[in-house]
Amino acid sequence: MKGRDAALSLRRAQAMDAADPLTAFRDRFVIDDTELIYLDGNSLGRLPRATAPRLAAAVADEWGGRLVRGWNEGWFDAPDRIGGKLAGLLGAAADEVILADATSVNLFKLTLAALLARPGRHTIVTDDLNFPSDLYILRSAAALAGRPVVVRVVPSADGIHGPAEALAAAMDEDTALLSLSHTVFKSGYTYDMAALTALAHRAGALALWDLSHSAGAVVVDLRGADADLAVGCTYKYLNGGPGAPAFLYVRRDLHDALANPISGWLGRADPFDFALDYAPAAGIRRFLSGTPPILSLTAVEPGIDLLLEAGMARLRERSVRLSEYLIARWEERLEPLGFRLNSPRDPARRGSHVSLGHDDGLRINLALIHEARVLPDFRRPDNIRLGIAPLYNTFTELHTAVERLRAVVVEGLHRRYDAAGLAVT
Ligand SMILES: Cc1ncc(COP(=O)(O)O)c(C=O)c1O
Repeated sequence: MKGRDAALSLRRAQAMDAADPLTAFRDRFVIDDTELIYLDGNSLGRLPRATAPRLAAAVADEWGGRLVRGWNEGWFDAPDRIGGKLAGLLGAAADEVILADATSVNLFKLTLAALLARPGRHTIVTDDLNFPSDLYILRSAAALAGRPVVVRVVPSADGIHGPAEALAAAMDEDTALLSLSHTVFKSGYTYDMAALTALAHRAGALALWDLSHSAGAVVVDLRGADADLAVGCTYKYLNGGPGAPAFLYVRRDLHDALANPISGWLGRADPFDFALDYAPAAGIRRFLSGTPPILSLTAVEPGIDLLLEAGMARLRERSVRLSEYLIARWEERLEPLGFRLNSPRDPARRGSHVSLGHDDGLRINLALIHEARVLPDFRRPDNIRLGIAPLYNTFTELHTAVERLRAVVVEGLHRRYDAAGLAVT
């Protein structure tokens, strides 16, 4: 691109940022290194400015000052209180969402609970775009169901789009559970939750959704979709911090019908009864197991507050404009250099990240990070995942990231890198 054209296209991106009132939310995050283009909010969200002071107060005033009295001054209720706020981002009622454990643990609890609620059925249906750990968990829950249960993994035809029709065909009167990632981690394909849930229900099965790549990124309407169960993490688009506690959703009419297989004292009707027999708490609290991690929970709330303030519908609209813009830039500037679009073209079926494939993807990703101050992540075999967090990523950043990606390949900077030996990509 000639100098004048380059300056013009950059100015266009800057003008789009200036015209969008949501751009102002970027200032609500800690961004010390303004040269770094962070495109990994789909892995670990940025730190909201409000979080550190809130956490410092929780440590000094609540833990330091109030000591054990803190349990009766807000800690005990924090999982369902913050879950209630999060419900507002998920199309759920406030008493249907609670924060607890890790996504994997919640998935295990709800999968086994669902299997026990559908006795006489012997399959779980899922797809091969699901997060691999979810498959491990589905299988481990299946092994504990007390009867043979098979996890049927339906393949995607192209590794990008979810096999919706094949999933429909795979479900029958022997299916206990359909479990899918709503937005899949590699391509960003996003299922029609209502349609797939209806198909599961038609087969008499329950539907359990992993919302890790959807919460805070796309409009989720659990109630509208009649979803039975959901889990997800809070450290991606919800900006809750590394290892932040996960969430789970159980539709209200199922609360009494499902049993938490990790029946610890915090899920008991009155934990401080210290009775020798377990009796589940009423409502969503029965899905708790052990003591909630109060400091980590405290760090989750400011991120959720920011998303509620911005409004999920407006954020989704911005996310689509950003990803459409990125794809248009890919087509003009990167496709000629051998980059492939490994995400759905249709924005209605795409979450908030865009995966670009390249034969040299891993090395290009390394060069981007170490030489070009762009921080995406990489998912094998060839995906450079560009996460777009609509609260803080900008058109200008996407413009610059594409130009830096181009420069890496044109200048051959990636050839300096060896793809072997990285633990976390
Ligand atoms: C889609 C999906 N499901 C589950 C997990 C695992 O979550 P956790 O480590 O909280 O168990 C992840 C982690 O990134 C994920 O992306």
